[in-house]
Amino acid sequence: MGSFDDRAAGWDSDPAKVARAREVAEAVAAAVPLDPGLRLLEYGAGTGLVSEALGRRVGAATLADSSAGMRAVLVEKVASGRFPGGRVWDLDLETDDVPSARFDLAVASLVLHHVRELDRVLAGLSRLLAPGGHLCVADLDRTEGGTFHRHDVDTHDGFDRAELAARLERAGLVDVGVRDCGAVERDGVAHPVFLAVARRP
Ligand SMILES: C[S@@+](CC[C@H](N)C(=O)[O-])C[C@H]1O[C@@H](n2cnc3c(N)ncnc32)[C@H](O)[C@@H]1O
Repeated sequence: MGSFDDRAAGWDSDPAKVARAREVAEAVAAAVPLDPGLRLLEYGAGTGLVSEALGRRVGAATLADSSAGMRAVLVEKVASGRFPGGRVWDLDLETDDVPSARFDLAVASLVLHHVRELDRVLAGLSRLLAPGGHLCVADLDRTEGGTFHRHDVDTHDGFDRAELAARLERAGLVDVGVRDCGAVERDGVAHPVFLAVARRP
């Protein structure tokens, strides 16, 4: 399948990825009050498709990713004016210190199933929120015999919604809600996706 570094340059030429990111952005917009002054963090941003789809409904975006290839695409997009006031971060909350900046909205779309140290990453995302800020996590449901990433060793096949909600609460977040958010199709199989929303008290 290739690493994210290798896949970054061609990422946006897959219409399914663009459509899925739009679907996530609309689900976020339906779940959380947006404001053009809102400080946005997209964690595991890839090429920033979700932030692009949120557009001017939010303020300046901080686009964080651990893949140098993805960050190179993001740097080009920031330079071309695609994200006014935007910046790109090399950040892996599994290993890095939590930056001191604070955000009103953090979005993590289809990244957490790549993470091993999930509680550490959720705690980091929670700490990055200003009081009252929201975390939105879009990711794969755990399904019987899930095979989304069957060739990868560094991933798991998705989340039990109730278990993830409990982990979000343990990370210090409240008002956790989980709803359906479409599906990702691969090899003719639709893998359901959820959107979890939680708030920093
Ligand atoms: C499936 S892509 C999703 C990209 C984008 N969020 C989207 O929805 O189009 C997962 C992204 O998460 C990034 N990623 C994986 N593990 C990460 C980690 N521990 N910290 C930060 N980013 C990570 C990858 O480099 C990749 O860009």
